[in-house]
Amino acid sequence: MTIHPAATAAESRTARLRAETHPTHERLDGRIMSLKPFDDRNSYLRFLQIQCAFHAAIETLYSDEWLARLLPDLQERCRLEQVRADVTDLGGEPVRLAAAEMPVIEGAEALGWLYVAEGSNLGAAFLLKAAREQLGLSEEFGARHLAGHPEGRGLQWRRFTAALDAVELGAEDDSLVIEGAHRAFEFVLSRVEAEATGAA
Ligand code: HEM
Repeated sequence: MTIHPAATAAESRTARLRAETHPTHERLDGRIMSLKPFDDRNSYLRFLQIQCAFHAAIETLYSDEWLARLLPDLQERCRLEQVRADVTDLGGEPVRLAAAEMPVIEGAEALGWLYVAEGSNLGAAFLLKAAREQLGLSEEFGARHLAGHPEGRGLQWRRFTAALDAVELGAEDDSLVIEGAHRAFEFVLSRVEAEATGAA
């Protein structure tokens, strides 16, 4: 019997997060690819600035004590430094968010934002391959933030999702996690639109 992804949606928090945000991920994937980020280094730089804004928006979560108790190796998972170095590698000035652009992320919502950030590293293998083959970039230059963990992306992801699934939350906080993931994807989408219209 084939188990449809939706059938497992009730089983774990991450399965539910995946199922609930899948349409938005598809939309984001499509919008990013429509910017043709791997056609040339200038287009790729626009993609980097989107990533830079996202990682800047969630920077403070990585030093949050409550989150650090729940999630393994939290501080080392922050990729802001790498994405800023990528922007600099390509001759850009890393985007800084004005105070008004910083999202307010409270309580359990933070877990949803971090799910999106970690998941984006899982999917980054494909992006790294394109950056390498089409633009000549690498984990040492221009595509640092797309690098996988030395022990493998899969293992790093499984450690994260196991911890996320094990966090005990009430129903209200559980919904906040999903809400946080939706807000994270919407934040990235808004940065894509800003880059697409040159407003960033
Ligand atoms: C063109 C851009 C993108 C492509 C082609 C892409 C592709 C992928 C792929 C192939 C996976 C599955 C990886 C696997 O199961 O081994 C994945 C997972 C994921 N990606 Fe993306 N991605 C893109 C951009 C993003 C961005 C910008 C974000 C968020 C900032 C994001 C968030 C996620 C999340 C949360 C998952 C994990 C889903 C889960 O299994 O629970 N992706 N992506």
